[in-house]
Amino acid sequence: MTQTSPRSVIRGTGSAVPSTVVTNDDIAKIVDTSDEWITSRTGIRERRVLEKDQAASDLARRASERALEDAGLAVEELDAIIVGTCTADYQFPSLACVLEAKLGAKDVFSFDVNAACSGFLNALSVTDMFIRSGRIRNALVVGTDVLSRFLDWQDRSTCILFGDGAGAAVVSASDNGDRGILSARLQTDGSYAETLYIRAGGSKKPATLETVEKREHSIYMNGKEVFKVAVRSMEEISRRVLDEAGICVDDLSLVVPHQANRRIITALASRLGIPMEKVIVNVDRYGNTSAASIPVALDEVRRQGRIADGDIVLLNAFGAGFAWGAAVIRF
Ligand code: UT7
Repeated sequence: MTQTSPRSVIRGTGSAVPSTVVTNDDIAKIVDTSDEWITSRTGIRERRVLEKDQAASDLARRASERALEDAGLAVEELDAIIVGTCTADYQFPSLACVLEAKLGAKDVFSFDVNAACSGFLNALSVTDMFIRSGRIRNALVVGTDVLSRFLDWQDRSTCILFGDGAGAAVVSASDNGDRGILSARLQTDGSYAETLYIRAGGSKKPATLETVEKREHSIYMNGKEVFKVAVRSMEEISRRVLDEAGICVDDLSLVVPHQANRRIITALASRLGIPMEKVIVNVDRYGNTSAASIPVALDEVRRQGRIADGDIVLLNAFGAGFAWGAAVIRF
């Protein structure tokens, strides 16, 4: 009898966003912009900004508790907690360790992966490897970011784009059936490291009075370059995972792409030949929540009952690094 490796099944999802809403008109009071410009260039209408007394792990905790409840899994049953984030509570330890303690998980291993906007896909893909190898059975996979803390609220080209959020998925091993992650793939091109980054605060340029005065602790981005490479790369990697899974575009029930800009999403859908009715867009309500964008959108569509058993869903993301990825999942 041949032994096949287990498949990774998404058993439950949860999400959390801050209650404070910041509209385009609110931002237009701070920088020289308008609701018309932001909506037409990005599709964003409003975003959520985390309250001052909260941290990324607080959002992650709320999303995680909802995912565990949805999955009907006790926290004690978790073997691992893997978090995609680039805005952890501290430089170290990892947000995953902070979250583990907040959830009361015991006898687990927890770590962060930093792939910026592709954080959730990276965390999911790594989890899939642990599950397929037989090393773990149940994992909590989280994507959370609080980029509002790293925005220059005087830079109109970036401060309009981002919002805060957290999304989580309980991923479990399944030994039979054809459900689960069919294919997942990650890719990076580090030659673009300084196309989208935070200049100071790391080992290269630690915080000084000067770095603060020069506003080097907030996001710098060459938006046009990101846009161009994002569409091309997400198309390529999406086609590769679909090929590997033996799935054609018409078999897809839904696409849940990273939510950075509505124009990126529509360009990607058009290149892949996928009608927009099958493509999830919530960037209008949350802006770009980085690693949280895919799991938040996925949780919303699951709770709306838009994913039925057997449905095949494509996830794809792109962000700083550049780091990108895609996964095909049969629910
Ligand atoms: O998750 C991955 C990370 N990020 C992304 O995926 C973002 C990718 N990039 C983008 O979404 C777009 O490039 C942006 C939305 C960031 C910018 O849109 P764009 O169409 O590429 O605009 P642009 O940067 O070429 O700017 C066009 C004009 C400029 O004025 P001039 O030089 O033509 O006079 C900007 O100064 O728009 C101006 N501008 C603004 N005007 C009003 C830039 N930001 C604003 C603003 N309000 N907020």
